[in-house]
Amino acid sequence: MARRRKVRRKIRVGIIGTGGIARAAHIPGYQKVPDCEVFACCDIVKQKAREVAKQFGIPHVFTDYRQMLEMDELDAVSVCTPNYLHKDPTIAALRAGKHVLVEKPLALNAKEGQAMVDAAKEAGKQLMCGLNNRFRAEAQALKRFIDNGLLGEAYYARAQALRRRGIPGWGVFIEKDKQGGGPLIDLGVHILDLTLYLMGYPQPIAASGQTYTKFGHRDDVLGLMGQWDPKKFTVEDFGCGFIRFDNGATVYLETSFAANLEADVFNTVILGDRGGCQLSPVKMFTEQNQTLLEMTPTSLRPVKTHEVEMSLFVEAIRNDTPVPIPAEEALQVTKILDAIYQSAEKGREVKIR
Ligand SMILES: NC(=O)c1ccc[n+]([C@@H]2O[C@H](COP(=O)([O-])OP(=O)(O)OC[C@H]3O[C@@H](n4cnc5c(N)ncnc54)[C@H](O)[C@@H]3O)[C@@H](O)[C@H]2O)c1
Repeated sequence: MARRRKVRRKIRVGIIGTGGIARAAHIPGYQKVPDCEVFACCDIVKQKAREVAKQFGIPHVFTDYRQMLEMDELDAVSVCTPNYLHKDPTIAALRAGKHVLVEKPLALNAKEGQAMVDAAKEAGKQLMCGLNNRFRAEAQALKRFIDNGLLGEAYYARAQALRRRGIPGWGVFIEKDKQGGGPLIDLGVHILDLTLYLMGYPQPIAASGQTYTKFGHRDDVLGLMGQWDPKKFTVEDFGCGFIRFDNGATVYLETSFAANLEADVFNTVILGDRGGCQLSPVKMFTEQNQTLLEMTPTSLRPVKTHEVEMSLFVEAIRNDTPVPIPAEEALQVTKILDAIYQSAEKGREVKIR
């Protein structure tokens, strides 16, 4: 008897916002997933949407995402608009019966993020946040060791996402009302999520922090990521925070768009009572037989993290299994960042509920 081939349901995706991340990551990422089609795209700038549709062979083009969401054929959408436009398209898509992959950060603040999480629950649809750095080969290697007991009890981490001269010279990354903040929300969100993921996502209870603007207002600072308009600069260019968790663990977070440092850093160092680890360069530290050991993974295969992100999102939809980066975890990060910003304004520690 001939073996029947399993028929895989085709997943059709729509894209809201056809800017940098949609073109570089989401659209090509989905197009690599078997039996997945980018069926429609939308941008308020008609020309942009048309160009992208032509470049990637996307059959349907819109300038109003609400119209795109009326398409019954769409199973899911990617929300790739600037941060201040994550909430409304996400909620509209969920209410239209689509699963959503929203870019990081989840939202401008925790109030918006909570509304998005609630909308997903009400609609019975999945909401994932694009915190792709979790899929780095080194992060996944550390996760495997940590899940098998490398750290013992993880009680402290130092998370850093630091640029020496990396104020973005494009987009709206320097405008507080559209972005919600500077490096804390743009870069800190990645390294904080990755750190908490490795620590098993303990529950945050309080945070304190400080923000500084020492470079962004000036017109005599080197722009290695393009030249920005100092008059438009309304975010911090350095932000740090100290976070407490309900299990007694603490995390120190440092982020910058510009700082007088030797070099850029994207790293987390995690301390446990049985072992420790760091992301960049990836290493693990233990003691055995009264001997200090250092372990360095070798031959890790390089990973295209965005491709993994799109592929796992589509597979979760297809198989009706939980998405790998649930919005609830991204909401914890957003709550922490809110508390750090509030603490910087108030000059004291802020509780997280
Ligand atoms: N995960 C990552 O590595 C990563 C990298 C870069 C950006 N991002 C995130 O992706 C998001 C977008 O960033 P980007 O760099 O692509 O910005 P971008 O400015 O290049 O693109 C945003 C696009 O959204 C469009 N847009 C604005 N309002 C719209 C609306 N109402 N309807 C439809 N389209 C609309 C704009 O015209 C623009 O084309 C941000 O939230 C950012 O944080 C993530």
